Amino acid sequence: MNDFPQLEERISYTRKINKISSIIGADSYLEIGVKCGNTFFYVSVNNKYAVDPKFQLPVKLEVARQKDIVTNTGVITKSGTLFFEGTSDEFFKKLKPTVKFDIILLDGLHLYDQTYRDLCNSLENLNQRGFIIIDDIVPCDKYSAYRDQQLCVDSRNKVEPDSRYKSAWQGDVFKIVPFINLFHPYLDYCTVTSTDGFPQLVLWRRKDYRNPIESIKFPSIKHQMMESTRLASENINAIDFDWIKNNQSIFQVCNEESFFSYLKELTGYQKQ
Ligand SMILES: C[S@@+](CC[C@H](N)C(=O)[O-])C[C@H]1O[C@@H](n2cnc3c(N)ncnc32)[C@H](O)[C@@H]1O
Repeated sequence: MNDFPQLEERISYTRKINKISSIIGADSYLEIGVKCGNTFFYVSVNNKYAVDPKFQLPVKLEVARQKDIVTNTGVITKSGTLFFEGTSDEFFKKLKPTVKFDIILLDGLHLYDQTYRDLCNSLENLNQRGFIIIDDIVPCDKYSAYRDQQLCVDSRNKVEPDSRYKSAWQGDVFKIVPFINLFHPYLDYCTVTSTDGFPQLVLWRRKDYRNPIESIKFPSIKHQMMESTRLASENINAIDFDWIKNNQSIFQVCNEESFFSYLKELTGYQKQ
């Protein structure tokens, strides 16, 4: 597949990405937060970009230190891969708007403000028919939803030392779901569950969406809508682990099988 050593593949993650890739015929892939590359190296897409401020790759990678190499083509290894050692914010600042991706995986810093920024930046560099996958979208327990990773692990070990989740930490990434629901009505999404991995959010642009705010002619009504959006935004800070337990429908959960049959229909429809 490429010139890198074999790793322990994160099966459900790569399966999902590779299946989406084969259905839409993806040619470019971006992964924010790559760590050792347990997902990245197994993604079968020709052009791949990897971003991480602290790679833990199993090979010595000189190119990972070259921070100024984000170009239009950006392909710098013989396997058609670009490594950018830096934060996602730094990466997107340097990335040219003409560089577009078919699939983007967001798996960097597990905080909702950072992930929401990664999402907004990703949308600028996503092909019209592209897909974004967001990892860590559902906390596995109440500790996992803490914003502080160390506090999450320490609290779990203290209160539930036999927990099967051990060092798992998803942070408060889940808060971006109401954000997407409220502020991005032109996006469609679902939370795809797997029997062998944690759920992930998959989202894509709705076809033929018209922004209702833009079509409103009366400024006062427009102002009213903007005001309610602002208030909702302030309330998002209050969303916690208990809130999502009581509002699961917002996640639009489905299993892999249903998602892929829907995706086939969707792309078949779009090709017409
Ligand atoms: C959960 S790991 C990624 C796992 C990987 N995607 C996989 O499937 O094996 C999260 C990674 O995000 C990286 N990270 C932390 N802050 C980041 C940021 N601001 N921008 C990009 N990556 C970040 C960490 O260094 C870490 O390697």
